[in-house]
Amino acid sequence: MSKPTPNEAALWDSTDTDRHALGPEELDGGILDEDQIKERIVDDLSRARTRTQVLTQALRDSELIRQHSQLMSPLVWDLAHIGNQEELWLLRDVGGREPILPETVDQLYDAFQHPRADRPALPLLDPASSRKYIGEVRTKVIDLLERTPLHGRRLTEGGFVFGMIAQHEQQHGETMLATHQLREGEPVLSAPPPPLAASGRLPAEVLVPGGPFTMGTSVHPWALDNERPAHQVMVDAFWLDTVPVSNADYQDFIADGGYQHRPWWDPAGWQHLQNVGLAAPLFWQHNGRDWLRRRFGRVEPIPADEPVMHVCWYEADAYARWAGKRLPTEPEWEKAARHDPVTGSSRQYPWGDADPTPERANLGQDHLQPAPVGAYQGGASPLGIHQLIGDVWEWTSSDFSGYPGFAAWPYREYSEVFFGPEYKVLRGGSFAADRVACRGTFRNWDYPIRRQIFSGFRCARDAAPGEG
Ligand SMILES: [Fe+2]
Repeated sequence: MSKPTPNEAALWDSTDTDRHALGPEELDGGILDEDQIKERIVDDLSRARTRTQVLTQALRDSELIRQHSQLMSPLVWDLAHIGNQEELWLLRDVGGREPILPETVDQLYDAFQHPRADRPALPLLDPASSRKYIGEVRTKVIDLLERTPLHGRRLTEGGFVFGMIAQHEQQHGETMLATHQLREGEPVLSAPPPPLAASGRLPAEVLVPGGPFTMGTSVHPWALDNERPAHQVMVDAFWLDTVPVSNADYQDFIADGGYQHRPWWDPAGWQHLQNVGLAAPLFWQHNGRDWLRRRFGRVEPIPADEPVMHVCWYEADAYARWAGKRLPTEPEWEKAARHDPVTGSSRQYPWGDADPTPERANLGQDHLQPAPVGAYQGGASPLGIHQLIGDVWEWTSSDFSGYPGFAAWPYREYSEVFFGPEYKVLRGGSFAADRVACRGTFRNWDYPIRRQIFSGFRCARDAAPGEG
């Protein structure tokens, strides 16, 4: 990678007044020149599109049009919505170009105008028209990218809005994969199994020392508004589970009457348990002898050492109380994932600032399941905490809110309208999250009853006085 001129370096640093206090935070741990940023954008957009095609070409048109769950859009809606957002932000806003389709089409794909449950009744583009549309948008976007300077306008600074669109498509990739998981019918997806766990036992918990750390970022060029700005947070010493809670751990909770013992449950969670009959993670079934699960159309034994998945916040919270622990707060989770105790700086990922690789984390739908706990030695944090990135999203105890100094950008509907106590924050990404939409600062949020998402958790507990 060639070194940039000072001006090119400034491309990434224009809003960065606290860079040196924070440590380096650039894409892939290096400063890229404009051509390199554009190469990266093309790569990220292409990878997103390949995945979109895998997820939508696997099914017949009738299955793309059908709504597989009230919680999800028909896949054909996701397909054209991906292209519509790309057209609105890149071709029309950045490029000033005319609409490709009649403008009445835009409102069909506006997520805020039509709840998911209503989308099947809309006069949506059919699968063939959707594919043609998103292909046309993409061809024009690649042409636009070549002509667009990535400086001089905030929206395009450092390639931000192109990166935002790549992240958007990958976020829909994860949503579409969740739709595949909810779908009934023969399996249509396949992928190699994840790596095995390394031999040797890991300690159950790791002590994270107390003290300040830098949470959030003001310098990552593609960070979204809710990750900003960087700010100092004081975190008391605490113990964090070395790995996510496993299926075997969770079966112990069930066997110990976890779903029958009210004191372990948040009152609202207990009410929800009774209303819907919660008795095990979503997609689990008991055959009278063993627990089985349905995973992308296949029924299989539950792997004991895989992180538990498809649990809601209330289940995670109840498990933690049963275990004599609690869920980590969002600052605790991020400190564990980013804080380097040697330098005092915050990294992009537990292993440093370099991009995720298959040796570091289970991301990008490379595998269709989480990896066993302990499978990613190369992804451990300096303190020796494993699998914070990838595998399963991890519920935290925190409500979703803006950091001090938050400013909505580039639109309120990305995150600000969701701030409030009704949403809980999840961190770290899952096997279904792509690396472009996963980093130590990345924040996800959902209702505490949701479990069709690829959600798991790990537990924390306070350190005793004098422990850290
Ligand atoms: Fe969207």
